[in-house]
Amino acid sequence: GKDGYRHYMEKELHEHPVVIGQTLQRLIDPATRRVRLPGLPFDLARVPRAVVTACGSAFYAGMIGRYWLERIAQIPVDIDVASEMRYRDPPLTPGGLGLLISQSGETADTLAALRGMRARGQHILSVLNVEQSTIARESDAVLGTVAGPEISVASTKAFTAQLSVLACLSIAVGRARDTLSAEGEEALVGSLLDLPGRAGEIFDLAPAIREMAAVIAGARDVLYLGRGACFPVALEGALKLKEVSYIHAEAYAAGEMKHGPISLIDRTVPVVASVPSGRLFEKTVSNLQEARARGGRLLVFTDTRGAERLRGLAEIVVAVPTVDEFTAPILQTIPVQMLAYEVALLKGTDVDQPRNLAKSVTVE
Ligand code: M6R
Repeated sequence: GKDGYRHYMEKELHEHPVVIGQTLQRLIDPATRRVRLPGLPFDLARVPRAVVTACGSAFYAGMIGRYWLERIAQIPVDIDVASEMRYRDPPLTPGGLGLLISQSGETADTLAALRGMRARGQHILSVLNVEQSTIARESDAVLGTVAGPEISVASTKAFTAQLSVLACLSIAVGRARDTLSAEGEEALVGSLLDLPGRAGEIFDLAPAIREMAAVIAGARDVLYLGRGACFPVALEGALKLKEVSYIHAEAYAAGEMKHGPISLIDRTVPVVASVPSGRLFEKTVSNLQEARARGGRLLVFTDTRGAERLRGLAEIVVAVPTVDEFTAPILQTIPVQMLAYEVALLKGTDVDQPRNLAKSVTVE
């Protein structure tokens, strides 16, 4: 049941902290605080490159995974949505890693892409929530997300569970390839283990998120912005808003705005941005200043460290706890999903069963 929540989506949003914790618990040894993956039938140290594919939210999780794999493990990564990947016929180096991500394990395009990768000699590793699924059966190895059943058609907790697995995988690949030191691993694991507690604090921000929702509920189009590993967070926010509120939303890498989409901006197009402190903070702030100068209404997610700088600029600022840059996209995801839910409530849509959508897309 819904345990007293109004919708499964609301219940599942509140499960983020627990799900992140349970997923990490499977992959991190509590005694040594080191990542310990289940035995794999291939050697991560010898994998020359990785190719990542998935659909929808799972694909956005994969995009964040790519940033981590590249940065932490210095491994070349190619990525595409499964519906494209399956027909691309990319030349793949034999012995490479084919990384699939799926909540259901039944998505037809993801399964077809898997088969194409297998035919091209890739080791198939799948990040799955349903561990008894077709994709699981056809994989060489499975890393489970411990999200429990996800009922809401709009994915929420499965996404942060996927990120938790991908973060651990990136650490494991980095250690295997010697691009990450033991001290480096300790620091990254420390920031992962801190996440469930920090995630729990985000629900206190609901009142400010509701204020944002009131602005968005009156709009016809919404722009989502982010840079680096928070660009996929913007994509996830825009997808979630479209799914549950039926408001048109588009996400852009913030630096790409001046190459076209900035022409859309006026008082009627709210701009939602995910801007945690870190390397790309000032770059993103200057993109937001450009939007502000054109009359854009800025609704900004940041962290406590970035909040001061953004208060003068944005109409509404929501500051999540400050964490390491590495784990920031995991925390930033939670409020953008909450925002979509709050807008759906204001719109009175069928939150858990949006029109035209199915939970599991088993046809091409
Ligand atoms: O079961 P999967 O993770 O393979 O599903 C992939 C997408 O269909 C799914 O993420 C979809 O985009 C969700 N409705 C997003 O909220």
